[in-house]
Amino acid sequence: MSNSRENWGSKIGLILAMAGNAVGLGNFWRFPYQAASNGGGAFMIPYFAALLLIGIPVMLVEWNLGRYGGKYGHGTLGPMVYLQAREGTKPKTALIIGSLAGMIAFGVTLLVNSYYNQIIGWTLGYSFLSLTGGYMDTAQSTGAVFVNYIQTPSLAITFWVLALAGLGFAVMRGIQKGIEAWAKIMMPVLYVFGIILAIRSLTIGSPVNPDWSSMKGLNYIWNPDFAALSWKSALAAAGQIFFTLSIGMGIICNYASYLKADDDVVVSSLATISLNEFAEVILGGTVVIPIAYAFLGPEGVGAGVGLSFIALPNVFRTMAGGQIFGSLWFLLLFFAGFTSAIAMYNYLVALLEEDLGVARSKAAWIVFIGYIIVGLPVALEPILTKTAELVYLTEVDNWVGSYLLIVLGLIEIIAVAWLMGDRALEEMNRGGLWQIPSWFFNLFHKVLTPAAIAILLFFSTRDYITAGYFKAIPSFVEKTPQLIPWVNGARIVLVTVLAVGFIQSYKSISSKYKEEIETN
Ligand code: PHE
Ligand code: NA
Repeated sequence: MSNSRENWGSKIGLILAMAGNAVGLGNFWRFPYQAASNGGGAFMIPYFAALLLIGIPVMLVEWNLGRYGGKYGHGTLGPMVYLQAREGTKPKTALIIGSLAGMIAFGVTLLVNSYYNQIIGWTLGYSFLSLTGGYMDTAQSTGAVFVNYIQTPSLAITFWVLALAGLGFAVMRGIQKGIEAWAKIMMPVLYVFGIILAIRSLTIGSPVNPDWSSMKGLNYIWNPDFAALSWKSALAAAGQIFFTLSIGMGIICNYASYLKADDDVVVSSLATISLNEFAEVILGGTVVIPIAYAFLGPEGVGAGVGLSFIALPNVFRTMAGGQIFGSLWFLLLFFAGFTSAIAMYNYLVALLEEDLGVARSKAAWIVFIGYIIVGLPVALEPILTKTAELVYLTEVDNWVGSYLLIVLGLIEIIAVAWLMGDRALEEMNRGGLWQIPSWFFNLFHKVLTPAAIAILLFFSTRDYITAGYFKAIPSFVEKTPQLIPWVNGARIVLVTVLAVGFIQSYKSISSKYKEEIETN
């Protein structure tokens, strides 16, 4: 079985594909507004702490889970987690742990992409608008342009389906000719665009107010402000680490399942992290926040979700060469999003191949239709309700884009570090260009990382309760009662998808490892 699996074509291709997986809208769209709205410099302290305590150890765990699972022919999380958990517990218990992991990975890959594909569509649409000067006319505010965009089917639906079709065609061609080939083109271009934009950003003065400048904006995120530290910013920072590194989603494991049994895991995971952090902290941080600061001042950087699609187009309108820089910006976002979404897409294709024996090209079509179905409510909410609240997206993102990632991270670290234990360290180090010292594994993987994730989960739960996300009518929809059905719809979808995911992975594991589960 294992030799029928495809492998990565080259080391550089693998690293670029993994970087493509991690570097996404999270780096350029989510990170800047998370950092800005959580106190800038105050955010960066817990951010780096979480990178060390959670990001690095869990990344290693996921590469290890994936390569090990791939050896047994698995590209999905249920059986991968089962295989390592069974080393330290009864197969029946491992079956439950694996099924929970598989459930979350299924929920994340299906539902995060239901809205993420949408946003990729926006970036493609906005690239088009930039190239054609579509938002340059100051008669309409950029906020109004955006609202009009998401409410107009010929824009919102068209670019979404186009982006999705592009993903489908890429995935259809397989690991080397599809995913790896695209990453080798898109990732270098992305870094070049990012560097051009960063240089432009740093050399910009403020045309608006002599007190504002991009340097002040840089200062804002780099000046550690211990006084502004808070639990809220720490939670946001740790959540960002999960999201940006693509951990707790199952997609790093899936990519790692196409490694050869003795391919290095240690240095490659660190390389992936470095490429992601460069794109996030250096490029994402330097481009967005400083430009926004120079043009919009301290208030402007707090623009939240609208930073990329509303605040920046406003800047491009007034800046010299704005149309060119706007195009570079939105194409960069598109490449970032595309190479991440492809990983989620491939996870579901791998699931169909592995569990239902569907051929890749057919599986790619099935997943395409699946993404259209789960994406429709996200696209239709603004169109049908004539609002721009995006409550369906918010509800889905709160659970599968944030909360459940932490739960999956906890399951993985327990299965690998506690249940498989020292054998997992041996396995991780096999073929490694560097070796993880056992003190590191004992201190981080066994103690600090599970503790940090457990604390994060505890406080996130508390935070969700106080924010009213557990309430029958979540707080963010209280002011717009006509949107309550959309939130309820999202909840029904969430519960259904998770239930299907659980049953699916339970069946997958129990049919493949029937004997040992029944006899032990
Ligand atoms: N790491 C990705 C990012 O930063 C997260 C992601 C991957 C989201 C795949 C969606 C799909 O954007
Ligand atoms: Na990222």
